Amino acid sequence: MNAETKKRNVIIDCDPGIDDCLALMLALKSPELNILGITTVCGNVPASLGAKNALKILKRCGRLDIPVYVGEEKPLQREYISAQDTHGEDGLGDSGIPEVTETVPFYGAVDFLNRTLAEAERVSVIALGPLTNIALALKKNPESWTYAEAFVSMGGSFKSFGNCSPVAEYNYWCDPHAASYVYRHLPVKTQMIGLDVTRKIVLRPDILEYISQICPEEGEYLRKITRFYFDFHWAQEQVLGCVINDPLAVAYFIDPSLCQGRDMYTDIVTEGIALGQSVCDEMGIWKKEPNSHVLLKTDSVRFMKLFLERIAGAKEPQLSGILKQLYPGETLTGDLSERKGGVG
Ligand code: BDR
Ligand code: CA
Repeated sequence: MNAETKKRNVIIDCDPGIDDCLALMLALKSPELNILGITTVCGNVPASLGAKNALKILKRCGRLDIPVYVGEEKPLQREYISAQDTHGEDGLGDSGIPEVTETVPFYGAVDFLNRTLAEAERVSVIALGPLTNIALALKKNPESWTYAEAFVSMGGSFKSFGNCSPVAEYNYWCDPHAASYVYRHLPVKTQMIGLDVTRKIVLRPDILEYISQICPEEGEYLRKITRFYFDFHWAQEQVLGCVINDPLAVAYFIDPSLCQGRDMYTDIVTEGIALGQSVCDEMGIWKKEPNSHVLLKTDSVRFMKLFLERIAGAKEPQLSGILKQLYPGETLTGDLSERKGGVG
């Protein structure tokens, strides 16, 4: 980052969650971001447990100065269904990482979001879990959200199949009423990072091996927290490795050239067999002003370059050589150093 480029203020709303933790690590190691706070919501795990996991990551990255706020423990209307089958009982792959004792999380994520949006300068929100906190904050104080610079949500799917039903992605399926409320009422466009793009982001065993070779301590930590996720993906889909959805939302916020999409009107199904499905009106059939920018394509090689640089301190020229081994036949397009600034 150019020394003169100002860091961008962000709040990360999440449900950590293995891939949320990887996203937090990426954000914490990204000099472009000034993380004002982390808010947690019920999703992969209850919000209070997610806050403990967020603290574990903050401690690991030496950033216990960043406040963590516990948010909503129930979706707006639906019964809460966690994803502990995917992320482990502790939400961190049952890795046994000790709890942080130096500090505790605060309560009141919704008020923290509204207060910060209203008081701090140009704040963006990156949401990596169900949209319950965001919907409640927006209902409580819609004016705060007129100050939001950008809103990125990992969730939904455009043409890809779902991961909770044939058509629904977990974050929107877990609280479809919140997701629908946010899409209908948020004054800024939702940048939808759905399964169409995140499915391309796979942390493979050979990538983990590279991380271990160049940064053994980080490799061991990642192995610990992703083992459960690897096993889940193998049992579920015979995939070697695991799909890491959430880090792409952070990477896209930093460098929007990593994904390409289109503006369209999106709403979320709140009942029936398609519960939680994101319906994106690509053809403008509803004749409504676009409320979302739906990401359709991503450059997974360039994402992985950024991820490896930040997470494991990978460096050129070795990194490009390794990326050629990891992704034979794919060309590395663009250069991160030519970035022109993030989403907003
Ligand atoms: C999303 O659901 C969660 O399990 C992940 O953390 C991610 O945010 C993917 O559907
Ligand atoms: Ca998540």
